[in-house]
Amino acid sequence: MVRHRPPVGDGPSDWMDGSLSRMAQAARPQSYFLRSFGCQMNEHDSERIAGLLEEMGLTRAGTPEDADLLVYNTCSIREKADTRLAGHLSTAARLKKERPSRLVAVAGCLAQSRRDEFFGDFPFVDVLVGPQSLHELPALLEQRLAEGRRTGAYAESTTCWSADLPRRRVDGPCAWVQIVAGCSNYCTYCIVPSVRGPEASRPAADVISEVAGLAGAGVREITFLGQNVNAYGKEPGFPGRETFAGLLRAACGVEGIERIRFMTSHPKDMSPELIEVIGGANQVCEHVHLPAQSGSDHILAAMSRRYDRAAYRDLVARLRRAAPDLTLTTDIIVGFPGETEEDFRQTLALVEECRYDSAFTFIYSPRRGTGAAVLPGRLPAGVAEDRMTRLVDLVQRLGRERNEAMVGRTEEVLVERASRHAAGEVMGRTRGHKPVNFPSAAQPGDLVRVELLEATSTSFRGREV
Ligand code: SAH
Ligand code: SF4
Ligand code: F3S
Repeated sequence: MVRHRPPVGDGPSDWMDGSLSRMAQAARPQSYFLRSFGCQMNEHDSERIAGLLEEMGLTRAGTPEDADLLVYNTCSIREKADTRLAGHLSTAARLKKERPSRLVAVAGCLAQSRRDEFFGDFPFVDVLVGPQSLHELPALLEQRLAEGRRTGAYAESTTCWSADLPRRRVDGPCAWVQIVAGCSNYCTYCIVPSVRGPEASRPAADVISEVAGLAGAGVREITFLGQNVNAYGKEPGFPGRETFAGLLRAACGVEGIERIRFMTSHPKDMSPELIEVIGGANQVCEHVHLPAQSGSDHILAAMSRRYDRAAYRDLVARLRRAAPDLTLTTDIIVGFPGETEEDFRQTLALVEECRYDSAFTFIYSPRRGTGAAVLPGRLPAGVAEDRMTRLVDLVQRLGRERNEAMVGRTEEVLVERASRHAAGEVMGRTRGHKPVNFPSAAQPGDLVRVELLEATSTSFRGREV
C-alpha cells in the first residue's frame, strides 16, 4: 500500500503528483540509502532528496545493504570525485546483483556532466537526475517501475528551486538556506557553470519566509548558500531589487535567528555595503570564505578570476579594518597549467600575508569541456604534489598561530551538539566558526560564554564562564 506521510520539513506538501500513488505496488521500494558527495550545496540538495523520498513513504536505511533504493548525490569538481564514486557504485552493482529488484539512482553534478555515457558505463543504474531536475526524481522512479526502462532528467537551468521541495533536515540549531543557484563566472578550471546552469537568485521574500520558518522550528543559525552569494540579485531578469547586503539586513530582522553565515564569496563581487554589514553590530558573523585560488596575477588571469593580487590584498585589508576579529578562510589551487615556481611562491606569499585561519587546498584537476583543460603547460604530478605539501605546511602553521593567539579570550559559542569524544562535553562554534569542545550541560542552540584554554590548528578546548 502506498503510504502518504505527513509533510516533512518546511517544504510544500502538495507537490506530489497523484500519479505517484499509482506506482507499481509489488516492486515499490520501502527504504532508501542516501550518500552525498561534494559541497554544502549538494548536502543541502540531499536534504531535499530525502524529503522527496520520505514523502513517497520510503524510510531511511543506515546502510546500502538494508535499502531497496540506493541514491548517490554526486560531485564532479575534480577527477578524484569521479573515481571515488566509481568505488561506491561497484558496491551498488554487487547489491543489485544480489537482489535485482533493488533500484539505483544517481543524482547531482556527475549525473549531469556524464549523462551521455553514464548508463553505458554503469548499466545497473536505473535513474539519473541532474541538480536542476531533483524535483523529477519521484516521477522518474515511477517511470522506471512502471515502464521498466532506465530514465533520466537533466534540465540546463533552474526552473524549480530545490529549496522549495520538501526537506528532511538533520535536527540541530544550524540550517542551510539556498539563495543563489548555478554560476555564470566560468572560471576556466571549473565545471560548476556547465553542470549547475547559469546564476539564478531566489526571490528575497521566499528566502526570508524560509528563514522565519526555520527560526520558528528552533533554528538559531542559518548559512546562506550559493556558488557566489555576493552576486545575489545581479543577474539580468532578477525580479527584485535586493542586493546581497540588503538580504542579510532583512534576515537580521527575523526573530530567533542569532547568527547568519554565508558562502561562497567571490572577491570580485564584494561590495562596500557588504563589508559594512559584515563589520556591523548585527547577527552576521565575522567570517568570510574568500577563495583566492592563486597569488600570481598571470595565473589569476588564466583562471579568469577577474581580480588581481593587489585587488585581493586591498579587499582583505578593508575587511580586516571593518571587522578586526574576522576569520578569513580560502580555497587555493596548485599546479594550474603554466604555474611556475615563482607563481607558486607568490601564492605562498599571499597566504602568509593574508594570515588565513584555514584553507581548502586542491591540486588542479582538468575537467572536460572547461577552458583550462586545453591549456598547455600541464605540470608533472610530482611537482604539483610537492607544492601542495609546502602549501599545506604553511596553512597549518598559520592556523595554529592564529588559534594560539586566541587562547585566553572569552568567546560567544553556539552549542551544536554533544561531543563525540567525551561524555559530559559539548561542541559549539565561535562567531568566527571555530569549533570549541568544553564540559557543559548546555543544550544545542544555547549561546554560552567560553574561555579558550588550549588550541590546535583547527579547534579549541575551553571552559564555560
Ligand atoms: N563557488 C565557489 C567554489 C566552488 S568549487 C567559488 O567560486 O569559490 C570549490 C573549490 O574547488 C574552488 O574554489 C576551487 O578552489 C576548487 N576547484 C574547482 N575546480 C577545480 C579543478 N578543476 N581542480 C582543482 N580544484 C578545483
Ligand atoms: Fe566555479 Fe568560479 Fe563559479 Fe566558483 S565562481 S563555482 S570556482 S566558476
Ligand atoms: Fe558542489 Fe561538486 Fe557540484 S563541489 S556544485 S557538488 S561539482
